[in-house]
Amino acid sequence: MTDHLPAGVERRSFDGEEHLATEGEPVYGEPVRGGWRAWNPHRSKLGAMLEAGMDTGLAGGDAVLYLGAANGTTASHVADFAGPTYAVEFAPRSARDLVDVAEGRGNLFPLLKDARKPETYAHVVEADVDAVVQDVATRGQARVAVENAEFLADDGRLVAVVKARSEDVTADPEAVFADFRTDLEAAYEILDAERLEPFHDDHLGVVARPK
Ligand SMILES: C[S@@+](CC[C@H](N)C(=O)[O-])C[C@H]1O[C@@H](n2cnc3c(N)ncnc32)[C@H](O)[C@@H]1O
Repeated sequence: MTDHLPAGVERRSFDGEEHLATEGEPVYGEPVRGGWRAWNPHRSKLGAMLEAGMDTGLAGGDAVLYLGAANGTTASHVADFAGPTYAVEFAPRSARDLVDVAEGRGNLFPLLKDARKPETYAHVVEADVDAVVQDVATRGQARVAVENAEFLADDGRLVAVVKARSEDVTADPEAVFADFRTDLEAAYEILDAERLEPFHDDHLGVVARPK
């Protein structure tokens, strides 16, 4: 398997076991060795995409718009290797934890905003970001990605995770993923799409570039 790890993400040994890792302050009780934090792919869909060897196009120092940051588990790892990381989360409770995570990270900017309303944070997020990372796990995941395409540089990347059950608990996940791909093509060309088993059931990881 070829690794496509951004600079600042490494496979390192933790008590004899190899794990993806980034360098930074610990956040969720993860093992730390020599300043490197293990990045658990079972707790992070982006971690699972990297673990599986997907070419996300992410690079060290990238400007990132992160949609669905929750309490910052994955966003903290992203901020460890990326440049400015704008983290959108609309649940106040999660956003409070995210603010704590951001305290030790000068490049992580929490935004208590609704990712379906990009006009409410367009004035804060810099233009032409290198990547939009999306993990909103809510109905209308394709629409969120399409509506946030405006933030991306022409050669930027969407790195999105689709949770089938968030769209329709009863539908066949493959049918949900097919609909997502069709809807996404309104604004993006899909470069890669892979399911995230065994780390996350019924999730699809998608890498795309704006049309
Ligand atoms: C699966 S969790 C994200 C986990 C996180 N990405 C991680 O790996 O650490 C999905 C999050 O998206 C948030 N979310 C869902 N819809 C949203 C929206 N329209 N705007 C902002 N956040 C949203 C939810 O509140 C939830 O915290």
